[in-house]
Amino acid sequence: MLAERMKNFSGSQTSGMRNRARKLRAEGVHVVNFAAGELDRDTSSSIKDAVHKAIESGRTQYTDTLGIAELREQVARKVTQKTGATYTADEVGFTAGAKQALFNANFVLFQPGDEVIIPSPYWVTLPEQVRLAGATPVALPTAHNDFQINIDELAKAITPRTRGLILNTPHNPTGVVYPATTLKKVAELALQHDLVCLFDECYDELVYAPAAHHNIVKLVPEMKARTVLIGSLSKSYCMAGWRAGFFAAPQPVVKAIANLQSHIASNPSNLVQYAALTALAPINDAFVAGNLEQLHSQRDIARQLLAKIPGLPFVEPEGAFYLFPDVSSLLNKSFKGQPVENVERLAEMLLEHAHIAVVPGSAFGSDRHVRISYAIPTKEIVAGLTHLDQFVQSLS
Ligand SMILES: Cc1ncc(COP(=O)(O)O)c(C=O)c1O
Repeated sequence: MLAERMKNFSGSQTSGMRNRARKLRAEGVHVVNFAAGELDRDTSSSIKDAVHKAIESGRTQYTDTLGIAELREQVARKVTQKTGATYTADEVGFTAGAKQALFNANFVLFQPGDEVIIPSPYWVTLPEQVRLAGATPVALPTAHNDFQINIDELAKAITPRTRGLILNTPHNPTGVVYPATTLKKVAELALQHDLVCLFDECYDELVYAPAAHHNIVKLVPEMKARTVLIGSLSKSYCMAGWRAGFFAAPQPVVKAIANLQSHIASNPSNLVQYAALTALAPINDAFVAGNLEQLHSQRDIARQLLAKIPGLPFVEPEGAFYLFPDVSSLLNKSFKGQPVENVERLAEMLLEHAHIAVVPGSAFGSDRHVRISYAIPTKEIVAGLTHLDQFVQSLS
């Protein structure tokens, strides 16, 4: 019954683990949820007030597909600030989450026959969206290089069919941040081979000093003409469920995206646009700074505890809110006679026997890792990593 394009196409495994953890919780089991892709904090009161006000003012109509003028101006100001390049309101758009912005960009830029390079491991959705556009995702392995891009390997992966690359920094699932030197070299290759760059910086405000986030357009201004910048309000503003994201791109790309989206979902929720207008205003800077500070201490606790568990090496995370330990030393062992066959089975066993939800690395293109999100209360981090330690000790 289903169309050919849905063959081998599956739902997001990150949502899958979240749902299973939720189900166990509903049965009364206390599950430590290391599978979350969002902070466990509430949206700020100024954002909530803005939406109440929008309701009272009757903001119930359709808006322009890519958002009300004030919001597009606000987004343009934000992107101008991030890049040091001037962006106008017609070079940006507001979407129902960064996921929609990324999908739209893939769909209007890539087509059958095109190859799109994505450093691997990758956020689960990136290659699927390339496939949905009919193009071919090409994974660029990075695990052997502490999840950093090796420029010579990237150069070798470029073929006459390569049309673009998708970069995500700070990185989900590994927590690494790409250094300026790497991004400059990547930009050089993109310019040399006429590649489009989708630059996903959904976690740009969640970087732990002394590490710093680098924007590719800021580093190499010529990249502005071939880059789609992608931003999200889900993470730093605790608005994941609101569905609020944005993008900045050359005008023809923005126009094509507006045309595409006008036939799919029209505008993102009018009310959410008013919430975003307030979220992106300076009044919320302190809220974001507070979230970063809290995550910084959670990161430090999580990495200290994880480092004490033998046989689970990990690369120091400098941004976002994930640890991505290599669990391959557990894969030839067994728990009470049951073999730990692969990372998916490990994640199932951890949920069932240690009551902790993690996301298997297979969701991100790795069969040797699991992703642990530390954007949960410190008490939960401590309890969950203690359970993980006990589970690891019990393997034979
Ligand atoms: C790297 C990356 N890009 C995009 C998104 C999507 O964010 P949004 O909630 O704004 O759709 C996520 C969410 O987890 C992400 O991790």
